[in-house]
Amino acid sequence: TIRALNPLRETTAALRRAAGKGARLALVPTMGALHDGHLTLVRRARELADIVAVSIFVNPKQFGPNEDLDAYPRQLERDSELLISEGVDLLWAPEVGEMYPEGFASNISVEDVSAGLCGADRPGHFDGVATVVCKLFNQVAPDIALFGEKDWQQLAVIRRMARDLDLYAPMPEAIIGVPIVREKDGLAMSSRNAYLSAQQRAAAVTLPNAMRDAIERLENGDAAAQVLDDLRAALLAGGFDSVDYAELRDAASIELLDEPNENARLFVAARIGGTRLIDNMAV
Ligand code: PAJ
Repeated sequence: TIRALNPLRETTAALRRAAGKGARLALVPTMGALHDGHLTLVRRARELADIVAVSIFVNPKQFGPNEDLDAYPRQLERDSELLISEGVDLLWAPEVGEMYPEGFASNISVEDVSAGLCGADRPGHFDGVATVVCKLFNQVAPDIALFGEKDWQQLAVIRRMARDLDLYAPMPEAIIGVPIVREKDGLAMSSRNAYLSAQQRAAAVTLPNAMRDAIERLENGDAAAQVLDDLRAALLAGGFDSVDYAELRDAASIELLDEPNENARLFVAARIGGTRLIDNMAV
């Protein structure tokens, strides 16, 4: 586990020397409280690269003032043991002061793809994500980086940033998306699922179930507006307290769609108690 920038640089250089010429280094950025979704990214990284680095950093810049920064689960010891058993070569876990030293004044803002969905509900969230991920890329200097489709919009923001800022030009495929890992009942794995009571956890399965029902109806040609209204109603009836959004969007540009087409994806965010859950599925 490395917590400061100078030893990080020395360690990545040593790992690259030891792995030999042409070795590829993969980075899996996370905020810790690792579950099987994260570990699936790590295993995929192991398949694609010779050296695997994982970062754990609960990034204050991507949390809003009324969000769960303080409550966010932190369990570095346990996470570090999990990563050792996965054969990870390097754990980068900087302190907040190392990531954002006194006087830090820069910001990366990726327009358009950040505008709707979680970007609309969480102002500044994707600026915080883009800024920290750009820093992580510069710190670790990976050849590839892996992100989960669980946070589909985040993946789109990072791909856009990598292209716009020539982080990987001409190799945008360096940003690799990994399909959503789900619990047995279909709920997408998330560190925030730990906030749910047993009763809330039982209700939460309404999210993937109602999304699958909606997709089946869309594929049968039902009008999207009605299907999305019914989806919202099903979530509320199933125990959710509110629905932040239930929308069809273009998978790449994240533009809003009135009706599904071959690039359409269904995106939903809904709240149960104080917990906000998100999911997305291809239509
Ligand atoms: P975090 O929520 O810890 O997620 C780290 C990575 O794991 C992200 O790429 C996320 O999409 C992926 N992931 C989480 N749950 C998943 C699941 N059920 N299936 C597949 N992948 C899953 O996302 C972040 O952290 C942060 O925003 C970060 C990118 C690290 C920047 O701070």
